[in-house]
Amino acid sequence: MRRKLIVVSNRGPVSFGRDDRGARVVRRGGGGLVTALRSLVALHDVTWIASAMSEEDRRVAAEAGGELLEETARDGSSYRFRLVAHDPQAYDWFYNVVANPTLWFLQHYLWDLKQAPRWDRGLHHAWDEGYVAVNRSFADAVVAELEREPDAAVFLHDYHLYLAPRMIREDRPDATLAQFIHIPWPQSDQWRVLPARIRTAIHDGLLGNDVVGFHSERWRRNFVRACHDILDVDSGPVRRRTVVAPISTDPQEFDELATSDAVLAAEREIVARRPERLVLRVDRTDPSKNVVGGFQAFETYLDAHPEARGRVGMLALLDPSRQDIPDYAEYLGAIQRAARAVNDRFQQNGWTPIDLQIRDDFPQTVAAYKQYDVLLVNAIYDGLNLVAKEGPLVNERDGVLVLSENAGAHAELGQWALTVNPFDLSGQAEAIHEGLEMPAEERSARIEAIRAHVREHDLSAWVEAQLAALDSVAVTARR
Ligand code: F6P
Repeated sequence: MRRKLIVVSNRGPVSFGRDDRGARVVRRGGGGLVTALRSLVALHDVTWIASAMSEEDRRVAAEAGGELLEETARDGSSYRFRLVAHDPQAYDWFYNVVANPTLWFLQHYLWDLKQAPRWDRGLHHAWDEGYVAVNRSFADAVVAELEREPDAAVFLHDYHLYLAPRMIREDRPDATLAQFIHIPWPQSDQWRVLPARIRTAIHDGLLGNDVVGFHSERWRRNFVRACHDILDVDSGPVRRRTVVAPISTDPQEFDELATSDAVLAAEREIVARRPERLVLRVDRTDPSKNVVGGFQAFETYLDAHPEARGRVGMLALLDPSRQDIPDYAEYLGAIQRAARAVNDRFQQNGWTPIDLQIRDDFPQTVAAYKQYDVLLVNAIYDGLNLVAKEGPLVNERDGVLVLSENAGAHAELGQWALTVNPFDLSGQAEAIHEGLEMPAEERSARIEAIRAHVREHDLSAWVEAQLAALDSVAVTARR
């Protein structure tokens, strides 16, 4: 059944820019959340509310003058789109001080606590004038949309919008609100790294929803416990308003992509240059992805296996991410230095151990998915990790998935992957070796099982699980 949905996320499905001749162009928004949610518009009647992130987005928002834009998705389905143009200074505090360097770092356990963080007035100011303000403009946009479509369900996403549900609820007590958290929910002691008023507002804001969704039971359990510890509320009722529904991908989209001209052209290039055996990683340049650790693990592998030198190579396809944030800019430098250190040490006779490519090139990614022998996903912590699902769908070499035990996808796919601890470099090196040496029959059985699972638990199943939870919990739970 098609439903009226108001989807709310910081990053939109598309973003506007200008080409070399100054003409307006539309680009697809990057990242897992947006890639996954884009298919939602084919299934339901969607109005999407997102931040105007580029200069051109702001111009488009101004030209629309508060009216909805009509957009068409890749498959021809149409949806409505509203860009919220926040105050630029407020947005900078929201995105570049609170959402990413603070909440993302906290939720992925990225700090070395003996050194960081140390809060000063800067965080409090960015919280009040940035995070609260941007959540307020999102809440106002949703309330305006609910005036137009009073029975639409509101489907909010992620760590950018923890306060909006409570704000919407205060204005519209009967609204139907669900939020999906795409990143890990850490244990309550970790939340105590944040000042009390902030961690309290986050948990209270989320409980403005009827339903809160997580990728795995592990994150859900932590959320329920943290609500108890931080807000002193009973766990039972909170638990009944949560749902575990790991996000997925659209297998049909990948089937089509795999044979598209752009992917076939990129694949020809990879095949022409590939080593005998290929270890692949695909990530944003985010410290949580453990790219440097992965290179060190590959170095450990080459150290232990001289016979692999000249034959096995790693291809790292990395999408540059959040480069206005110093920690991210520094991490990109660390990635480049780490790759160079391994290459300087081992390269010989035209063979380079690590082929590092830093750009957003989706056709190249899909082409590389088809070609890997081992797919390395060694995230420090990760809400889910869609690469672990996308790669096996199109891979043509019965490649083996090496998967961090701290990625949400591990709960689903771990039984068919080689499990690694992301901090254990020699364990990862051994897993790379084991994956490359695994007998053909076992490789094939494992990847077939992953494919069958992903095809059955696809994106539409994820959307349905959310809506079913909303139907069963919404009316009774919040009153
Ligand atoms: O869930 C986390 C997430 O929203 C992913 O969907 C995506 O990979 C990433 O963060 C995008 O981050 P940003 O919008 O900051 O580029």
